[in-house]
Amino acid sequence: MIKPHGSDSLNPLYVDDAQQRSALQAEAENLPSILLNSAAAANAVMLGGGYFNPLTGYMNLADALSTSEKMQTVDGLFFPVPVVNLTDETGIEAGSRIALRDPNVDGNPVLAIMDVEAVEQVSDEQMTFMAEKIFRTLDEKHPGVATFTGLGRTLLSGPIQVLNFSYFQADFPDTFRTAVEIREEIAEHGWEKVVAFQTRNPMHRAHEELCRMAMEQLDADGILIHMLLGKLKPGDIPADVRDASIRKMVEVYFPPNTVMVTGYGFDMLYAGPREAVLHAVFRQNCGCTHLIVGRDHAGVGDYYGGFDAQTIFDEEVPEGALELEIFKADHTAYSKKLNKVVMMKDAPDHDKDDFVLLSGTAVREMLGKGIAPPPEFSRPEVAKILSDYYQALDAKAS
Ligand code: ADX
Repeated sequence: MIKPHGSDSLNPLYVDDAQQRSALQAEAENLPSILLNSAAAANAVMLGGGYFNPLTGYMNLADALSTSEKMQTVDGLFFPVPVVNLTDETGIEAGSRIALRDPNVDGNPVLAIMDVEAVEQVSDEQMTFMAEKIFRTLDEKHPGVATFTGLGRTLLSGPIQVLNFSYFQADFPDTFRTAVEIREEIAEHGWEKVVAFQTRNPMHRAHEELCRMAMEQLDADGILIHMLLGKLKPGDIPADVRDASIRKMVEVYFPPNTVMVTGYGFDMLYAGPREAVLHAVFRQNCGCTHLIVGRDHAGVGDYYGGFDAQTIFDEEVPEGALELEIFKADHTAYSKKLNKVVMMKDAPDHDKDDFVLLSGTAVREMLGKGIAPPPEFSRPEVAKILSDYYQALDAKAS
């Protein structure tokens, strides 16, 4: 199986031994503690599950600045974004051991224990520098920029031991998986070539077909549909609805034992190209050999060019930094001429009207009114689940 990023075997920071975990839990109750923000909590969950291998904790300021600037830590480890614990909490000293409390679970239980190696103040200039490099914009209307710049100015760095997976295991028992578990499942299937499909949205015909095209063109053994289960911007479809609609699509339209439907506990960054590279790193850690990167991958609004998330792999990811390869997908849509979903580059004689193209807003409106989008755009089973959700939401609002 493909090696994890940066090491020969995966080093998840979750404390797997139950006895050791309860001893740490007891210790944590007597330690000074801080309440994490959701971004730092999501980082802990990802570190816990082995997704951010080979990191052993939160980065210090030098590494945060270096990864922001050139996707490399000071020691030369390739990593696409800083993994940080930025806080406004005061009174924590370097050398202390502290408990990290979870902002996303009632009662704020301890999520992890941290050995604080350094406490550093981040200047406004340094925050701006990092935000601009990660998001390619400083526009506060960009949801990722707004979240990042609001995280706090004190950076706590050092190794962590993770005690649980926040709300993800309880809320998504069938879907949340760690990178360790995904590797194990891939091995059980006996798959070698595995394509990951990243998603934060329900899957319509174009997405379904993209998975099929990647599978066929790469002669892959299986597909990992891997959805984000953490926080999204307002208006995005909640994870449980998306999960139900994706599961239905897989059940009806894919042969058994070719698709794994899973999810990971991370908040969406909306960092477009940089997030695509992060997606590649953690899919390699999951044991995938390929990642589909299509149009406006991990984008928002019109902050990124449609295919910037592909060109970053050619222009900015150093040769050999990753073993996983990306499967580049062109804009994909149903062709009325060919009666099937195609990549636009493969239909050069078509003009726009030859495709079934619907805007997100138009689809949202139709579903809210209980009107199914055309079957060329959405599978009826998928449309029904989304329509029920939107109708209930609209009924509540009125
Ligand atoms: S993402 O933010 O998680 O990337 P989304 O769930 O919308 O967003 O997309 C999942 C994947 O499908 C991404 O790789 C994206 O680029 C790709 N994609 C979505 N729609 C299309 C499309 N019509 N044509 C080509 N690729 C697409």
